Amino acid sequence: MTIQNTKTFRPDERGLIEAVDALRGGGLVAFPTETVYGLGADAQNDNAIANIYAAKGRPQFNPLIAHFSDISQAKRHVKWSNIANQLAETLWPGPLTLVLERHSKSNLSQLLSAGLPSVAIRIPAHPIAKHLLVNLGRPIAAPSANISGQISPTRPEHVHADLFGRIDGIVDGGACQVGLESTIIDLTGVPTLLRPGGIPADIIEELILTRLAIVQSSDAIRAPGQLASHYAPRANLRLNANTKGTNEIMLGFGPVECDLNLSTTSDLVEAAGNLFSSLHILDGDNPTSIAVSPIPETGLGIAINDRLRRAAAPRPANNQ
Ligand code: TXA
Ligand code: MG
Repeated sequence: MTIQNTKTFRPDERGLIEAVDALRGGGLVAFPTETVYGLGADAQNDNAIANIYAAKGRPQFNPLIAHFSDISQAKRHVKWSNIANQLAETLWPGPLTLVLERHSKSNLSQLLSAGLPSVAIRIPAHPIAKHLLVNLGRPIAAPSANISGQISPTRPEHVHADLFGRIDGIVDGGACQVGLESTIIDLTGVPTLLRPGGIPADIIEELILTRLAIVQSSDAIRAPGQLASHYAPRANLRLNANTKGTNEIMLGFGPVECDLNLSTTSDLVEAAGNLFSSLHILDGDNPTSIAVSPIPETGLGIAINDRLRRAAAPRPANNQ
């Protein structure tokens, strides 16, 4: 991971222009939302998203929330529903995240949703978050701006302590008002509470006149690869392959002969950014088996290998 000079952007016109420019250039900028500080990147830029995982030191590709400036922008990326509309009209902007089926035409990064067929979306209420979204004119991916496994930051000093030298900048917007992450509701099936948060679940239940199903784990998707719905290619995966066998298609890494290369220069950040989109592309050709080059177990290579091993593991019958 390259060490960077992390700037502090003042929350004035000039500072916010610089922050938007950094985001537009594929940079990482931490910014306040009403819940906690988010570590933002252009949600359509695979490489920028890969850098989020690298900066946070996430050992797995846990999917990220895509933040939008308004409902019409958000709706384009998912299969919208009546319940989603009801919650969005009443509680957005605010500390509510909705998980919905991803629209086939969505150009959000595949790495953002960690290859899942769903995507988590939210419209934050904080004026600085809103300003960045409106002026960037694109959705922003933002997990909480902390090192993986640490607590979420509610002040710029917290972000500074965790991520200084790892990201391009921090917008100093003082303390976050809610101080607790957004409530996450999964609407891809029976409405389910995935994470309690800034909006109490009973307010949501009163609005939709339904009891929410509860996921037992406190962090529902800590291991998204364990979910039955998690994306796995239809083809079998053969890992640590040096050459491709008959009837195989090859996903390479480094200077090797292959059908598609994660990174010809062996750059793990580039490879992470290409991982899910490459699997989708190769799987689209309906091969029986995809051979994958060895990936080093360092930096983002750990998360890439974790994901590849899950995708290669024998699947339960309902996950074919
Ligand atoms: O308040 C918040 O939600 C903050 C601010 C910055 O918006 N963000 C935040 O992001 O807490 P993060 O990445 O720390 O937590 C997001 C949670 C993760 O546990 C992730 O697994 C879950 O959302 N998530 C994201 N996409 C999902 C999906 N498609 N299906 C299920 N869960 C998802
Ligand atoms: Mg977090």
